[in-house]
Amino acid sequence: MSNSNNPLVLGATGQVGKLVAMNLRSRGANFLVGTRRKTDLEALAEQYGASRYIDLDDPRTFDEALKDVTGVFLINGYTVDMLVQSKTLIDAASRNGVSHIVHLGAFTREHDTYLPVFAWHQMIETYLRDSGVAWTNLHPNMFMQNLLALWRVNGGRYSVYTSKPIGFAALEDVAEAAAVILMEGPEKHHGRDYWFSADALDPQQVAETLTAATGYKFTAEVRDHELLLKEMVLPAVSTFESAYAKGGIELFREVEHGRMAYIGSVADDTKRILGREPLMLRDWAKLHADELLEIASS
Ligand SMILES: NC(=O)c1ccc[n+]([C@@H]2O[C@H](COP(=O)([O-])OP(=O)(O)OC[C@H]3O[C@@H](n4cnc5c(N)ncnc54)[C@H](OP(=O)(O)O)[C@@H]3O)[C@@H](O)[C@H]2O)c1
Repeated sequence: MSNSNNPLVLGATGQVGKLVAMNLRSRGANFLVGTRRKTDLEALAEQYGASRYIDLDDPRTFDEALKDVTGVFLINGYTVDMLVQSKTLIDAASRNGVSHIVHLGAFTREHDTYLPVFAWHQMIETYLRDSGVAWTNLHPNMFMQNLLALWRVNGGRYSVYTSKPIGFAALEDVAEAAAVILMEGPEKHHGRDYWFSADALDPQQVAETLTAATGYKFTAEVRDHELLLKEMVLPAVSTFESAYAKGGIELFREVEHGRMAYIGSVADDTKRILGREPLMLRDWAKLHADELLEIASS
């Protein structure tokens, strides 16, 4: 582990990047967080130690943001813009001597997928592998944190668009692993793909697990995947663009028909990276019981 490490964490105001930054802070690491909101720079610097202005939609901001940066936690939002954002950022990292990029991808275990978001992540990973910058790709399956979205567990009814098992990953594991990988650097993690899918459960098992953890009766409702686009892109609940949501329909259609059965598999590198077992949904639901209860009773 190098003392001169100085990684830049993107997406620190989002759900994954925030946990990565908190993990780095609690481990006493030297690091910076990037934000596209100039008004947040000061508050983020107070919170994490140092911040830099970077707008992934404006590559002119990259060189200044990457000055003296040794590694990048590359995270994008839920839009196709991730392709241009990542390509230009990887170019800038290479130009500025950044030695390691840790990319947050998806659970893309097979290459013949035609889900848009999986394809986008695979294209970013291919470009990254060819860039000359040392790389590590993280591949989380469905975030357990998705179960905290109101539209998914409204009134204690877990709405899901396939009856088949889905593999879940706790962001606590993904973020802690990302922080450790950034701290340990490319010497240990270059050229590695890590998988995060700790617990594979069908809808009924998810509802039973949430019920056991909270004492509140959760039920499961398998809905027609064609409804996903309408329900996911409700203005009040979503930052997803429709291409992403359409990909969600494809995902559930494929899983339901058994063509993407691997989405329901367990494959998890948490222990390999952190030396501890990953959180199962039952553990995660206990940690988040108050939030689950609040949503379920709303
Ligand atoms: N949900 C799942 O189950 C799942 C599973 C596997 C993989 N993933 C992947 O996880 C990623 C999303 O992670 P997340 O849930 O943490 O996202 P998120 O909560 O939506 O956060 C996105 C972060 O990116 C920042 N950002 C967006 N556009 C930016 C720009 N132009 N310049 C600088 N920063 C920008 C946002 O900053 P602002 O605060 O300024 O908006 C925010 O901090 C996606 O790539 C997705 O494919 C998700």
